[in-house]
Amino acid sequence: MIDYKTLTAKYGTPLYLYDFDYITQQYTALKEAFRARKSLICYAVKANSNLSVIQHLGNMGAGCDCVSIGEVRRALLAGVAHYKIIFSGVGKRDDEILEALREDILLINLESEAELERVELQAKSLEKKARISIRVNPNIDPQTHPYISTGLHENKFGVDLDTAKRMYIKAKNSPFLDPVGIHFHIGSQLTELTPIKESSEVVADLVRSLQAIDIDIKFFDIGGGLGIDYEGETLIEPYDYAQAILETLGNLDVTVMCEPGRFLVGNAGEFVTKVLYEKINEDKRFVIVDGGMNDLIRPSLYNAFHRVELLDRTDNVTKADIVGPVCESGDFFAKDIDFPQSYHDDLVVIKSAGAYCFTMSSNYNTRGRVAEVALEEGKDRLIRARESFEDMIQNEKAYLNK
Ligand code: LLP
Repeated sequence: MIDYKTLTAKYGTPLYLYDFDYITQQYTALKEAFRARKSLICYAVKANSNLSVIQHLGNMGAGCDCVSIGEVRRALLAGVAHYKIIFSGVGKRDDEILEALREDILLINLESEAELERVELQAKSLEKKARISIRVNPNIDPQTHPYISTGLHENKFGVDLDTAKRMYIKAKNSPFLDPVGIHFHIGSQLTELTPIKESSEVVADLVRSLQAIDIDIKFFDIGGGLGIDYEGETLIEPYDYAQAILETLGNLDVTVMCEPGRFLVGNAGEFVTKVLYEKINEDKRFVIVDGGMNDLIRPSLYNAFHRVELLDRTDNVTKADIVGPVCESGDFFAKDIDFPQSYHDDLVVIKSAGAYCFTMSSNYNTRGRVAEVALEEGKDRLIRARESFEDMIQNEKAYLNK
């Protein structure tokens, strides 16, 4: 049981708590599911890029899937081996590509023909051979929220099969490119296995046709996207996921890679905030808490559902909106939920807050980013200090009165 009172007395509110033992459990379950094959789980750093979270996963053998050179630097700083780091993303700058090549990471994942040329140019300037993979867009509907669906041609991600083939041939003929990987990622918070299996089939067929022309793919990257339980969703079991993928591979001799973010950390995290006031307008009841949309934006941005619980009280339940102090009507965590009567300083816990919560936080309204705490083997430790006012203004202060 988490002792929220002691933890919030020690670290203040609002606060992110992460259960590192749960992360271990999730990582182990997924790794186990793929045990029939060589596999590499590259944690999608964007989900939660706290250095200690990365280090925790790295210590268990995870690699990292990074989408900026900043994330690559984080992975390296956290001790993840360079040969387990991949660099994806639709818009990499030349300086990012150069640094990734210098760091000799496992793969740069290409998302367009134009990018292939840029990477080739940078590799040439370093007289290196860049190991690359190509993100194929299998044009399959992942049946998830449109904002987080990426596997359809209408999305900006990846290239179609014909383009991919052309790019592989180009890469094969270049002295500066080594096409060793293939990649797809059709969306996030996936709860249906069929689209994943269908995509994997399409991409595995492409690998076979590449083999026929002597292009040898060694890394088969199935992306991330495994959904988690926010509100009682039926989930894909890691074993079924792995089986579905492995079936499509047949006797292809590839290392299976995946890039889970949410699955590893989403339900390891909770956001703890304090009740400031209750307020009733006409017939609407608001519970105003000290955390806001700048700290956890998913409900405001995607209308995403997060369970919200009031600690230690159960009386006088009526409908309420749970809202933050930010000056926006969109600043809410939940709307029209059954919520007991609350009082100043009561604690409210927002569940499933380990992925895409802290990483999407901002300083909007000049609110410092909150503290993050790890819970591991019955102990708690700070893994990110609360931002102070000084932290927030340090890059501006020197320019005052200039
Ligand atoms: N690989 C690629 C290429 C991705 O684009 C993503 C996520 C992942 C892996 C990790 O996906 P996961 O396993 O975490 O589902 N901010 C949104 C989620 C955006 C996901 C973007 N891509 C949210 O709060 O739901």
